[in-house]
Amino acid sequence: MRQADLKFGHSPQTVSFWRRLVAKAVRQCQTPLYIFSADPIRRALQELEILATGLPIRHWLSCKTQPIRPQLQWWRRQGRGIEVVSEFEFLAAIEEGYEPEQILVNGPAKHHWLPRYSVRRLSVNFDSNREIDVLLPLAKLLDWRVGVRFLTREEYDSEAPEFPTQFGLDPVAAVPALKRLKSAGVRFEIAHFHLRTNVSSAAVYERAIREVAGICRAAGWLPTVLDCGGGIPPPHTLSRNGCSYAAKFNLSQLAKVYARAGRLFPGLRELWLENGRYLTARSGVLVIRVLDVKERRGLRQLICDGGRTTHALVSNWESHQLFVCPPRHSPDCLAVVCGPTCMAFDQLARRPLPRSIREGDLLVWMEAGAYHIPWENRFSHGLAPVVWHEDGNLSLARSRETFAAWWKQWERSKMRVD
Ligand SMILES: Cc1ncc(COP(=O)(O)O)c(C=O)c1O
Repeated sequence: MRQADLKFGHSPQTVSFWRRLVAKAVRQCQTPLYIFSADPIRRALQELEILATGLPIRHWLSCKTQPIRPQLQWWRRQGRGIEVVSEFEFLAAIEEGYEPEQILVNGPAKHHWLPRYSVRRLSVNFDSNREIDVLLPLAKLLDWRVGVRFLTREEYDSEAPEFPTQFGLDPVAAVPALKRLKSAGVRFEIAHFHLRTNVSSAAVYERAIREVAGICRAAGWLPTVLDCGGGIPPPHTLSRNGCSYAAKFNLSQLAKVYARAGRLFPGLRELWLENGRYLTARSGVLVIRVLDVKERRGLRQLICDGGRTTHALVSNWESHQLFVCPPRHSPDCLAVVCGPTCMAFDQLARRPLPRSIREGDLLVWMEAGAYHIPWENRFSHGLAPVVWHEDGNLSLARSRETFAAWWKQWERSKMRVD
């Protein structure tokens, strides 16, 4: 392991695991390409077993975080449920055979699309009073298990902390809404919040849980399910200035917080979690190839066939470990990993890298799981192939988008405007 990479905290075994998969995948697939594996997701789930301290915990797959078809299929075969926040995700869950009881519908403004589907026995968390108005009759008719998303004081816009996010019901709106739902003749069971991504410590969850418990008490409502959303930071992701999001996060402390939650909500029977990043950030890598090398003002510019704009928008605010195939052992010099688009913004990383990296080498961007595929961009290049790894086998989950497929989107048809 290079000294410079120790700060990311990946084990040599993890890097070797991905090296082996990359070597196999590039025999069949040209770069740029993504490789995803079920193994790291399974391991992350095992790590989260530490959270079970009494109440049963149910892990939902945050679909939007990584909507990869074979991953949805693999997750369903584990007998687990899926959390969807858009119409397409909902349809994907139905298409992949999830039972309605295994589908949790979250997200804002779903009263504009959910009524199109008469699916019985879903779980649905209402995000606003308007949603309640429109969806409550359906919830009764279709026997949904329903809940409310709360906006707590812990949830704010990360770029402007003085402002709240746009989600959920604030405490003033929540109390009357809870009273209304209590007496509405529906299965009103879930108290839900999602704070943000990369929550810094277990104490933040504890404060949010206490606040939600207070609101429920004020309305005289006893939820049987507490859905704490996602937000647990994955272990190896650093911010762009090199700080670890997970440094102060302690899963054992979170387990204690959850144990105390049981006492704050008499009658609580289950905890639900929807962690996207924690479960899937580690489950993928992006493989790109160096196409050209320039040297100017002491900087080596590695022009690659993939990068930030097209494949790794998160590199705008995150730093991930990169490794080279074949390994290069020369001394480092400052390098920028540039993508292929004609944009100065397209820089995946700027850091010391081996001076002997040359045209044709592969660069592997780790933790290309969570939020890479959903934010993938064509930018005139077409979508990259996706390779899926499960039970020791690799399969091609998605082929490279062809020019014909890309250009076909512009087929014109007549609009009927009467
Ligand atoms: C409602 C909800 N649940 C779960 C998640 C997953 O969050 P994370 O990837 O930070 O765990 C999100 C992300 O925005 C969300 O909005």
